[in-house]
Amino acid sequence: MFRDVLAGHSARVETCLGGLFDDLGDDALSRAMRYAVLSGGKRLRAFMVLEGAQLYGVRPQQADRVAAVVECIHAYSLVHDDLPAMDDDDLRRGKPTVHVKWDEATAVLAGDALQTMAFNVLTSTRTAADANIRLRLITSLTEAVGARGMVLGQMQDIAAETAKAPLTLEAITELQANKTGALITWAAEAGPVLGNTNTNVMREYATAVGLAFQIADDILDVEGDADKAGKRLQKDHAAGKATFVSLLGLEGAKAKAEELVEQACDGLDIFGGTSENLRQLARFIIDREM
Ligand code: IPE
Ligand code: IPE
Ligand code: MG
Ligand code: MG
Ligand code: MG
Repeated sequence: MFRDVLAGHSARVETCLGGLFDDLGDDALSRAMRYAVLSGGKRLRAFMVLEGAQLYGVRPQQADRVAAVVECIHAYSLVHDDLPAMDDDDLRRGKPTVHVKWDEATAVLAGDALQTMAFNVLTSTRTAADANIRLRLITSLTEAVGARGMVLGQMQDIAAETAKAPLTLEAITELQANKTGALITWAAEAGPVLGNTNTNVMREYATAVGLAFQIADDILDVEGDADKAGKRLQKDHAAGKATFVSLLGLEGAKAKAEELVEQACDGLDIFGGTSENLRQLARFIIDREM
């Protein structure tokens, strides 16, 4: 079953993540970092790395490290996203957020250090023996999560709260592609990059799945169950967030997510049965309750 595969992949990435802390001490910063990255989470981005790597014949040990990288970046983004200056959330993955458990300074710094840790892992020959591949991974990650990617998307998300006019469909699509899509796309492309080949097929898949993922997150915010989701819900509307739901309504957003998942799965046809887990992931992404 898909959930068993997901649990197996999560265990793999968590073992690798745990190992990244072997050289760190038991100080407050390290503890906050561990808490942020090792307290649950669906590990969907890691799953994409592992499945993409398998499709392109990459060694599992390398894939595990890149999967850990994407989860470090994702965890950092969540720690900062939850800060009072941003979404001001006190619950994440069913537990108090880092700034609530420690304090804001620790949350800012733990996020920073998780991001640095991610890049450090990519510089290691254990991640990829070929320096060109390492550089390709590092360069593409800077593009995905920086001022033209995730951080820009977060800025656009915050700016939209106080925008004079509602965002257009085009503007929301761009915002979400930056905020959430860029890192998901990086995760899906890591397999072919590690395999030293072109990323076109995985990019198409991830572009559709990434958008469907954020639409599902926005739908969950409206009609999800906070206990299952492990985070506060019904916050986007009150904060004036621009989402597909705010523009298309719930039914319109659901139809859009469904269409994107079909599109993502169609693109995998060239792999045949070996891409079954990625198809099921696309479906899971819009059917999930957390
Ligand atoms: C939540 O991401 C944040 C968004 C980008 C919308 P996930 O839903 O993947 O969070 P975890 O990792 O499973 O907690
Ligand atoms: C978070 O998006 C996106 C990033 C952290 C880059 P949201 O603000 O919608 O995520 P949740 O709903 O808090 O998980
Ligand atoms: Mg946010
Ligand atoms: Mg948030
Ligand atoms: Mg959300």
